[in-house]
Amino acid sequence: MTLAVAVAHPNIALAKYWGKRDKGRNVPSVPSLSVTLAGMSTTTRVELAERDSLVLNGRESDGRPAERAFALLELLWLEAGKSGARPRASVSSRNDFPTAAGLASSASAFAALAVAADRALATALPTERLSSLARRISASSGRSLYGGFVELAAGEPESEFLPARPVAPADYWDLRLVVAVTSEGAKDVGSTEGMNLTTETSPLYGGWLAAAPAIFERIKRAVLDRDIEALGPAVEASALTMHATALSACPGILYWNGTTVDVMHAVRRMRQGGLPAYVTMDAGPHVKVVTLASHAEQVALALRAIPGVLRTIMAQPGGGAHVLEGPQSEPTP
Ligand code: DP6
Repeated sequence: MTLAVAVAHPNIALAKYWGKRDKGRNVPSVPSLSVTLAGMSTTTRVELAERDSLVLNGRESDGRPAERAFALLELLWLEAGKSGARPRASVSSRNDFPTAAGLASSASAFAALAVAADRALATALPTERLSSLARRISASSGRSLYGGFVELAAGEPESEFLPARPVAPADYWDLRLVVAVTSEGAKDVGSTEGMNLTTETSPLYGGWLAAAPAIFERIKRAVLDRDIEALGPAVEASALTMHATALSACPGILYWNGTTVDVMHAVRRMRQGGLPAYVTMDAGPHVKVVTLASHAEQVALALRAIPGVLRTIMAQPGGGAHVLEGPQSEPTP
């Protein structure tokens, strides 16, 4: 029995990735920078078996999730130059945070799978190779291979090797992300679908491509300088410009609900009251408020007082994906 277990954490992009330069190879059109989060985990178990099977949060799963999961195993096998057919595997994955919390569960899922499968298949690939392969399945997952503050460059068309890279470790800066959960439902338009429709139809998409690299640079500089006053406005510019392109797709993609907008106004009022608090939103209605550890409780309290905010989740920078249990370096059968 060959079995490996790995854990990975979700990440939230401060500088957003939105749009692909090369759909087939899943190459992003713009550079992104994220924070990997502590406290929330995906744990994934890969066991070599007679046939491929996937269980997600206790439920047998097929279709697109299984296709993506086993495509990643194929990529690992090819990358390692192994001969013969890839061994089949039974994969099971569990999140300890609700999928509807608006934290990209696909990022931690494919990062944990890359690490667990690498051990179970004895492909022994370096982390940067695993990051590049996970990125091909879901770009944000390439960033969850690493802890702390992580960047993913925009690739050239046809880039095969494009890994994320660490910018600063988790303990570099005591930032907090306070998630204001504004809905229990799953999102209507997934991020892949949303960004593809945006790329194909939004008249503003060219503006995003022109603006995003400079916004990314401001964000990276502000992280390295630990400068919240510089970081916050750039984080908001990234999120709002991304959402402007989604809103102007055809048909328009509106990820926000009424509470999303109420939280955005409330955070502006918090700033007028002297709190360093800034919003970012992904492909869903929840608002992630970026602040400093010293102000996080006060921000969370104020967010919970907004009608429509169901609860808050406090998150801080955390570590990268790693193996919990597995064979040392046995060859695969
Ligand atoms: C809004 O990484 O989920 O969260 O590469 O198609 O799987 P695919 O997309 P995905 O998109 C994430 C989009 C985002 C911004 C970000 O995380 O950078």
